Amino acid sequence: MPTLSKRTEGFTDSVIRRMTRISNQYGAVNLSQGFPDFEPPRELLDRLAEVTKEDFHQYSITWGAQNFREALAQKQSKLMGRTIDPNGEIVVTCGSTEAMMAAMMTVTNPGDKVIVFSPFYENYGADTILSGAEPIYVPLYPPEFNFSIDELEAAFKQKPKALILCNPSNPCGKVFTYDELKAIADLAEKYDTFVITDEVYEHIVYEPYKHTYFASLPGMWERTISCSSLSKTYSITGWRLGYIIAPPEIIDTAKKVHDFLTVGAAAPLQEAAVTGLLFGEDYYKDLQKKYTEKRDLFLKGLDDIGIVHTVPQGAYYILLDISEFGYESDLEFCEALARDVGVGAVPGSSFFREDVNHLIRLHFAKKNETLYEALNRLKDIRKKISYRKP
Ligand SMILES: Cc1ncc(COP(=O)(O)O)c(C=O)c1O
Repeated sequence: MPTLSKRTEGFTDSVIRRMTRISNQYGAVNLSQGFPDFEPPRELLDRLAEVTKEDFHQYSITWGAQNFREALAQKQSKLMGRTIDPNGEIVVTCGSTEAMMAAMMTVTNPGDKVIVFSPFYENYGADTILSGAEPIYVPLYPPEFNFSIDELEAAFKQKPKALILCNPSNPCGKVFTYDELKAIADLAEKYDTFVITDEVYEHIVYEPYKHTYFASLPGMWERTISCSSLSKTYSITGWRLGYIIAPPEIIDTAKKVHDFLTVGAAAPLQEAAVTGLLFGEDYYKDLQKKYTEKRDLFLKGLDDIGIVHTVPQGAYYILLDISEFGYESDLEFCEALARDVGVGAVPGSSFFREDVNHLIRLHFAKKNETLYEALNRLKDIRKKISYRKP
């Protein structure tokens, strides 16, 4: 038999999706893979029902349906502080997952280096492998997950082609401050580097933190490829709708990459999602309020149990410190948690470049009753998980 591609040799199964399978096997409350168990806004579902009877069943324009791009440009122009051209500065993709992959393929050649902050969302590792690029990891230090400007500059000195910026960040919940972004921007300019952003949690930010779009920083529009999606903002992770926003010269190439990767995002879903893109400001305020309540409810429950955890500034993930249990493998701990306690989590090691095995990630994008059930099960964690003495 011929051999399979070298490119894929280093791939492991996605740990996040594996934990979902393990959670299902043990009937655990699955707080591993980050998707909601509550319904999307009713208006989107109603519009989706109508759309099935209308004429949206064939390919839309490959870089996105006109209606969708216009509604998106209108929404993002207000947020990003510049007029975005729906015809020249947007590509609609199958989620931010495809947007990031297309962005990487648009700017990198095999062998190019790309800066990635660690901890990082696990897809970025796969994105670099698939595009043949080499990651340079720069650590974010807890509890605030700050970076050292000297370490960052040392990474820039290795002449990377791009930096990947996940803001707000999964898994650590960091929302980069304006000053931090400005420091990154200055280095990107000094070393002439692209910045690829992943801003899927742009609307899930807790007071007093504020989201700043990297592309809105002075001089950054030209070198920023902004990726995001509707998955988290409208609770429609299964619709697979995302996008790239960038200057026309970059978009021209990104359009071609996207066309050959997927041709296009699902036409009926793009049409139905226009309803969401046209929502007024109140929708985003309510979303923030809803997630703030969930975060507070979940953090209070964890505090009552007495587990050490991070406090997210944005996104919907919490890292729990499991050092007290003495496990050498966080994966083994997560298996025991799903089996013996009935809660699904993700081993922290899948997000860190560094040797970290004392953290696990839980998410709280769930109905309050689901969160209460998870907390109820976690109450007995110290009785149900056997301690491993080193
Ligand atoms: C940081 C980050 N980027 C991208 C994604 C995937 O987004 P999409 O559903 O738009 O592909 C996720 C999903 O959890 C994520 O956390």
